Amino acid sequence: MTQTVQALRWRDGRLEMIDQRVLPARFEYLSYSNAVAVAQGIRSMVVRGAPAIGCAAAYGVALEALVLRSAPLGEFTVGLDAAFKVLAASRPTAVNLFWALNRMRAVWGACSHEAVPAIADRLLEQAHEISAEDVRINRAMGAHGAALLADGARVLTHCNAGALATAGHGTALGVIRSAVEVGKRISVIADETRPFLQGARLTAWEMVQEKIPVTLITDNMAGHLMSRGEVDAVIVGTDRVAANGDVANKIGTYMVAVLAQRHGIPFYVACPLSTIDLSVDDGGAIPIEERAAEEVTGFRDCQWAAQGVQVRNPAFDVTPAELVTALITEKGVVMQPHRANIAALFT
Ligand code: MRU
Repeated sequence: MTQTVQALRWRDGRLEMIDQRVLPARFEYLSYSNAVAVAQGIRSMVVRGAPAIGCAAAYGVALEALVLRSAPLGEFTVGLDAAFKVLAASRPTAVNLFWALNRMRAVWGACSHEAVPAIADRLLEQAHEISAEDVRINRAMGAHGAALLADGARVLTHCNAGALATAGHGTALGVIRSAVEVGKRISVIADETRPFLQGARLTAWEMVQEKIPVTLITDNMAGHLMSRGEVDAVIVGTDRVAANGDVANKIGTYMVAVLAQRHGIPFYVACPLSTIDLSVDDGGAIPIEERAAEEVTGFRDCQWAAQGVQVRNPAFDVTPAELVTALITEKGVVMQPHRANIAALFT
């Protein structure tokens, strides 16, 4: 079983997260001790990827509870409420963030009659459990999804839905890892993923670490490779799936899905149930984060666009359900997702 890199870890009463902004040039953990700092880590993309953001938010709540461990109940309640608010405001699109916060709030509700230190302990236990559960779910998705990939498949992916985007193993890259573990020869084509370069910096790095063959392309090369018969399947992760099966994921995913359909290539979405939001009717209602113009006008210290140019920087787009061949979930593969077969996952 492959032991993947740990995007988040608990060390000496603190949360440590790999600084994904500086990978692969530098591999370093940053340390967090309260909710405001964790929220800033999420907002600034130290940690990113829907399940990893959820885990970080859960630890953010737990850390704040530990900070307030000796406080009187009133102060604890006010402080912890504020922690939930600041974490919920960190990024809008990935529903796993809100899912994890809801789980933490439910635990708090269930033990609110206990003494403050005991509540803090339970919240930390729950944060650990959310992370451990994420790895189990990713492994289950991997086992289901691996069956969809033929030996020798060349699989294109967009963004990073790997170990770095989760508590371990990954969702889309988890399927690839699981297929490799059962002996399939899989090669990966990683879209660079402008503007934050999750594909070039993170997916390519993860695959190189594990010696899974990977070829990096810029986003605008995908159609060309597909037209030449060089892509057998597409697998991506997701930040939120609406009740009708529309899929929000990293900007550029929609373009890949349209191209895949044009070329008759299956388009798979690795999707834990925690990423499905039944309260959102269709993809049009999913909030799409707009990020800073500087991410588009340049990268780090290098600015290449004209000063003063107007910029759009939506961080996600929505792929209509009709373009999705299947959702790969921990409960199994849902072919041609639609309202009824998605709702059935929750029964
Ligand atoms: O902006 P990011 O890097 O957080 O976006 C990440 C993605 O779009 C991933 O594909 C998605 O969160 C799934 S991660 C398993």
